[in-house]
Amino acid sequence: MTTKRFFALMLTTLFVASASAAKPEPTVTVIPQPVKISVEKGEFTLKPSTPVVLGFDDAKMECAIDFLNSVVEPMTGSKLKVTDGKAKKGAINILQDPTLGEEAYRLEVSRKGIDITASSSHGVFYAFQTLRQLFPVELLKSGKAESVEVPAVSIEDEPTLPYRGIMFDVCRHFFTVDQVKEVIDLIAMHKMNRLHWHLTDDQGWRIEIKKYPKLTEVGGYREDSQVPGTHHQVDCRMEGKPYGPYFFTQDEIRDVIKYAADRFITVVPEIEMPGHAVAALAAYPELGCTGEQYKVRTIWGISEEVACPGKESTFRFWEDVLAEVIDLFPSEYIHIGGDECPRVAWEKCPACQARIKAEGLQNEDELQSYFNHRIEKFLNEHGRRMIGWDEILEGGVTPTTTIMSWRGSEGGIAAAKAGNTVIMTPKTHCYLDYPQGKDKTIEPPYGERRPNHPHFLPLENVYSLDPYDQLTPDEQKNVIGVQGNMWTEHTPTFKHVEYMLLPRMAAIAEVGWNYYGKDFDRFTDNMLRMLRLYDVYGYTYATSYWRENGKK
Ligand code: ACM
Ligand code: ZN
Repeated sequence: MTTKRFFALMLTTLFVASASAAKPEPTVTVIPQPVKISVEKGEFTLKPSTPVVLGFDDAKMECAIDFLNSVVEPMTGSKLKVTDGKAKKGAINILQDPTLGEEAYRLEVSRKGIDITASSSHGVFYAFQTLRQLFPVELLKSGKAESVEVPAVSIEDEPTLPYRGIMFDVCRHFFTVDQVKEVIDLIAMHKMNRLHWHLTDDQGWRIEIKKYPKLTEVGGYREDSQVPGTHHQVDCRMEGKPYGPYFFTQDEIRDVIKYAADRFITVVPEIEMPGHAVAALAAYPELGCTGEQYKVRTIWGISEEVACPGKESTFRFWEDVLAEVIDLFPSEYIHIGGDECPRVAWEKCPACQARIKAEGLQNEDELQSYFNHRIEKFLNEHGRRMIGWDEILEGGVTPTTTIMSWRGSEGGIAAAKAGNTVIMTPKTHCYLDYPQGKDKTIEPPYGERRPNHPHFLPLENVYSLDPYDQLTPDEQKNVIGVQGNMWTEHTPTFKHVEYMLLPRMAAIAEVGWNYYGKDFDRFTDNMLRMLRLYDVYGYTYATSYWRENGKK
């Protein structure tokens, strides 16, 4: 038996023992599962008058406190008072231990009070996220609870992986600032820390770029859309109505970035190049190899119309765009896409062929690498690091490139072995646009819902993600994270998006937070309480796993 298993068994024993005592202990479940948790006897009674005593402060402590009060106020009707000073009885004491990791925390709830220890407000924020899950769900929106019983627990917690993200595509379907903020709330609730914001694609350019206004004027609009749920090669039908123009102004982008930062989340922008760029080509046709009049793509799938790396003006364009992106986004990482870039236009383009010859490149794969290297150099010169989808491995990558492995884990494994940093988001486990159950009323009606079908992704498959698969302990260090991807071709409304995210993003969160403690049975039992938390906030979610396995 592994130590973890032994520990889990001890916990179960503890739990059963306390549950059989005269007064049943409140059920304690936390998602993602804390690294160490033991349920103690008794509870702390939180009152509207309970003070928060800050034993240390930092630049973002106020954000953590604001979050706590955003939970407490709808429960008791008032905010908790915050004071500085020494820990005291009957308080929520915030203590500092600089030896803990940035995201780590300890949480001790006893009859005497609540002690939270962390090295920074980031850890405190996660302790508060845990605390929310300890509050009785039925009181969370009650408005006037005079006392709240918080079960006594002792928790030591910290994540396995530093990057835990959700990618949100706002190109295929557009979502409002408030909806993006709700995705951010969900990311925070699951102790994840990255929103990978997919802002440009063939079907729409969604970020205002001051130097190139047509990107949003022209690229933010499309004449028609493929009906969600139809396959572009099988039964492609069109909506028959225009879409847009839709885009985020730079002020809105700044607002989203701040909202995320206040929740300890970094927004990683993705600007797709040189493929998945038809919306940009429609706005500025000279970006393409032929300069013909491109149109923002109305059907899903992959386009052969891509940017031309043969022309210097193409580089000037992307560098200008990235300069504005860098000004907006503080993220160390900038995602440049790089996936699904057919080479047919390059094969016929005199400028591309001249570039291949002049640079001594072997083929069009290497032409894309050449493009990537120049873009990476630009990003590095501006103090940023480049992420690209795993196709960018094909013509060779620099050792400093971060690979986002999506076609499977193979690209990520190869990259981690070669020494590149990697984020694992294989479609076999992390593509949250794939259906998860039998319910066709809200899930996209495409894909076959049967085990082993490549476009069927039930909860258990997501949870079985192993980001360290086939890697030695040294190579594992190159895997910095995991991510769920919310592509939106088939999710026209935000309710669809919530349904596809929940509960599967919880599975990805748990893999990233507590890889070594994974236990699917415990996870699905504990999720039942999390679903009630989703209810409190009015989120739409899938219960397919429990219904289809006779558990609900
Ligand atoms: C991708 O799904 N093309 C990254
Ligand atoms: Zn070209």
